[in-house]
Amino acid sequence: MKNHHIKCPAPNQYTDISRSFYFVIFLLLCVSLLTLSCSKSVAQNVDDMQSSEIIEFSSDQLKQLLKEMDSAILENPSEHRGPHVSVRSIRDNQLFLIPSRDWTSGFLPGLLWYMYELTDDNYWLVEARNRTAYIARERINASTHDMGFKIYCSFGNGYRLTEDPYYRDVIIEASNTLITRYNETVGAIRSWDHNSDKWDFPVIIDNMMNLEMLFRASELTGDPVYNDIAIQHARTTIEQHFRDDFSTYHVIGFNPENGEVMQRHTHQGAFHESSWARGQAWGLYGFVMTYRFTELQEFLNQAEKIAEFMLDHPRLPSDLVPYWDYDAENIPNEPRDASAAAITASALYELSTMVPEKSDYYKQMADKMLASLYNNYRSAKGENFGFLLEHSTGHLPGDHEIDTPLIYADYYFIEAALRKLKIEGI
Ligand code: GLY
Repeated sequence: MKNHHIKCPAPNQYTDISRSFYFVIFLLLCVSLLTLSCSKSVAQNVDDMQSSEIIEFSSDQLKQLLKEMDSAILENPSEHRGPHVSVRSIRDNQLFLIPSRDWTSGFLPGLLWYMYELTDDNYWLVEARNRTAYIARERINASTHDMGFKIYCSFGNGYRLTEDPYYRDVIIEASNTLITRYNETVGAIRSWDHNSDKWDFPVIIDNMMNLEMLFRASELTGDPVYNDIAIQHARTTIEQHFRDDFSTYHVIGFNPENGEVMQRHTHQGAFHESSWARGQAWGLYGFVMTYRFTELQEFLNQAEKIAEFMLDHPRLPSDLVPYWDYDAENIPNEPRDASAAAITASALYELSTMVPEKSDYYKQMADKMLASLYNNYRSAKGENFGFLLEHSTGHLPGDHEIDTPLIYADYYFIEAALRKLKIEGI
């Protein structure tokens, strides 16, 4: 039985003074700890975050997502654009299913490849292979610039991990399709075909992401054509998309006959002169990746300047997850975009390997973003149909996908976690 007798020390002057002294020290400590935790807000120390915990959480959630998706597809097998093969978000409290032609169709297979890479578990290999196969028909779809998102996230990762020659062929065929959209006079690949009443030849900042597949196609074939187009596209983007402070417009409308700029727009942002959060993230990731392939200083400089714009921005919240637009009118009462933070974290991990003198800084910022996403933006276990993160914003001005899970947020979140593990050599 426990002894509940409490001993009271005999009161004397010395004990009282030392008690007051320790009490003051204790108070001071509390105040400094409180100040520290407020100033860092929710961007907690990444050392507290267990990578194995992220993997376990993601495995459980993604298994649920696949199950929920498969039963939703059985009930709703197709739409006007084709058979449902993947999932993009949640709309009207239901999974938002998509056909292969949707720009986001490659992210789920890509996530499954990352899970295979992280776990070496055959379950993920089989799932990744099966769900990659559904995207193959996109390799000949010349009506879109989103070829990199669709084919490189799926087949590109598949080839990296398996060296399956069929995957290589798909990457090359898709690259041949994508370069049909290149206009030499403009010096860029055309992005959208829609809204032709607004833009004759629109090029969006997101298009930087599709260059990765082209760089890889040159490596795989030895043919410089893909590489040359990608470099020219990146140079045109530096020249035309960026403002003096290194923020980017979303859409530049060109005259395809003479290459003149007709419009500078920010279609998915707050207004044309605003800085749409995901656009900045695509830009950063795109130029970091372009430097990886080219080792041309101009692209590293651009990446660093974009990083500086975002990381030093007075309206970047202390938890490092941006509002959907840096210039949104009602900050701090505006939705966040966790997808922009996930893309940025992944890009910063890579950037940290390229700039030795700023390596620690970029790595620490990436760590904080990743920890912030995991600690404060992840779905509750078993919720959101199995999506990993919540609080992303797809297209606020279009009034859809606001403060919700998005498959590409999950993809870049896991990619960031994987890059962190590789950098740390775990
Ligand atoms: N690439 C389209 C988007 O970021 O919403």
